[in-house]
Amino acid sequence: MEEQLTIPKHVGIIMDGNGRWAIQHGLTRSQGHRAGADNLKKLCIHMKEVGVSYISLYAFSTENFKREKKEVKFLMDLFVTLFTKEFQTILDQNIKVVFSGRRDPLPKKVLDAMDVISSRSSECDGCVLNICLNYGGQSEIVDMVKKTCLLYQQGKVSLDEIDTNYVQANLYQNLPPLDLVIRTSGECRISNFMLYQSSYTEFYFVKTYFPDFSESAFDQAILEFNQRTRKFGG
Ligand code: IPE
Ligand code: IPE
Ligand code: MG
Repeated sequence: MEEQLTIPKHVGIIMDGNGRWAIQHGLTRSQGHRAGADNLKKLCIHMKEVGVSYISLYAFSTENFKREKKEVKFLMDLFVTLFTKEFQTILDQNIKVVFSGRRDPLPKKVLDAMDVISSRSSECDGCVLNICLNYGGQSEIVDMVKKTCLLYQQGKVSLDEIDTNYVQANLYQNLPPLDLVIRTSGECRISNFMLYQSSYTEFYFVKTYFPDFSESAFDQAILEFNQRTRKFGG
């Protein structure tokens, strides 16, 4: 890409459309998720190479537990395979993997796999990959409020200390605000993704289904981002 482009520091991706991609290709939803996972690995490496410092991927929402048991099971098994076997390419790129979301009610094998990849990548400092798994933006705020109430009760935080910096630092991960959020598959909604962090994000909605959202499609999003004038209320 051209050198003078501004690269967003924190990019979020709502990876949507695996199911419709599968239907389009006469495949099962599981195969769609498998194709999405293959794309995710390629895309993260590309984003890091382009110079993105923080990547947040929406992998599974708190609401996704409403899906058929069979699909949920496939996705949980896929996460285990990714984090224990397939993320070597991510480690090779010096990418640190962290997670956002509630641990309960994720199966133990998924939690163990998350812990393995988190600790294996804890020293990596090339870029941060924040995987939102069993994640809900509303639950994240609820959990931050509960944690703060407890700290307040214990006299460990005072009202004066609670400001926007405090809130950011006490969400699941202390990440900078999102500069760009990309949602694939044509839906123009946020679906409970990083509500606090997206206050001044630029949104990029694209019709492409996630498994087809290539490196060059990402570069297009960066070009579009560079056309936007950010004002932050000023
Ligand atoms: C996104 O693809 C992946 C997850 C939500 C886990 P979908 O499974 O939502 O695909 P569509 O929206 O049905 O096409
Ligand atoms: C959002 O996609 C969640 C993820 C990409 C993980 P959904 O497919 O669950 O969102 P809705 O149901 O279309 O809003
Ligand atoms: Mg969807």
